[in-house]
Amino acid sequence: MIKDRKISFSGIQPSGDIHLGNYMGALRHWPTYQDAYDCVYCVVDQHAITLRQEPAVLRRRSVELFAQLIACGIDPDRSILFVQSHVPHHAELAWILNCFTMFGELSRMTQFKDKSAKHADNINAGLFTYPTLMAADILLYQTDIVPVGEDQRQHVELTRDIAQRFNGVYGDVFTMPEAVIPRQGARVMGLSTPESKMSKSIPEGCVFVMDKPEEIMRKFKRAVTDSDTENCVRYDRSAKPGVSNLLDIYCAATGESLEAAQSRFAGQGYGVFKPAVGEAVVECLRPVREETERLLNDKGELERLMRQGAEKAASVAGRTLSKVKKKVGFLPR
Ligand code: TRP
Repeated sequence: MIKDRKISFSGIQPSGDIHLGNYMGALRHWPTYQDAYDCVYCVVDQHAITLRQEPAVLRRRSVELFAQLIACGIDPDRSILFVQSHVPHHAELAWILNCFTMFGELSRMTQFKDKSAKHADNINAGLFTYPTLMAADILLYQTDIVPVGEDQRQHVELTRDIAQRFNGVYGDVFTMPEAVIPRQGARVMGLSTPESKMSKSIPEGCVFVMDKPEEIMRKFKRAVTDSDTENCVRYDRSAKPGVSNLLDIYCAATGESLEAAQSRFAGQGYGVFKPAVGEAVVECLRPVREETERLLNDKGELERLMRQGAEKAASVAGRTLSKVKKKVGFLPR
């Protein structure tokens, strides 16, 4: 394939509502790849069912996530944005790649070990072969770079091993992808538990992108500050984790430097500081929430965009899959 620009592939699971940590740390930076790469963005609903999902909830989250990605700045005309289960090539290539992936390799995946310890009652084969589906996602588009968090690096390394093995047997079929771990955007900690990352499993300390302004303000007003007795805004990650987290969030939301923010709130108490951070977050998230809502209310437009994305994806994926099928010896239909 002749490519003008390198290709970037990003996948995101519709397995939870998007919160401020997801947004500040990752999602918000995703659209910027469109300036330098031909981008593919995929809502990976097939990965999501490796853990049990409520069907109606999965549907709601998938469509909401699709709309949120557009609201964040992903341009569905310039990039390829689609839902994984709309493009059957992913499952089809995953099967073939399963036959080029070793049991031992999959057994060594730390995410599999973690998830199977956490969900001991549902250690299904999909959880085990999750990385080969991810490899199919990446390899179908002749991807050059894969922006992921550190936790996914091992999966991209395995994808490279699979691609190399396949290419070694059949010649150059797949482009060799590379993981790109972006410099961590803001690392957002929980508002009620500032020692640990913001997480949907602690909803009180978790601000969701779709939360209404009143809800966001309520959560910030209740944010844990520090157990010290000084009612003073000062950045100190170890001694004042709550206040420091709020300062980081304020800076991420407004673009202000830490120094500027610290002097802005110098001498002010938490009673002023916490609502000010809340307001900054409300304003930062407002355009994303409003645009998402607008899209969700325009079902026809969303359906059109999903269909368009799936068609564009299938056309690229189809070329790779045909080549693969021929190479392994499947008969043409
Ligand atoms: N496994 C990724 C995660 O949980 C999501 C994902 C699926 C993905 N397929 C991908 C990421 C392909 C990058 C490329 O975050």
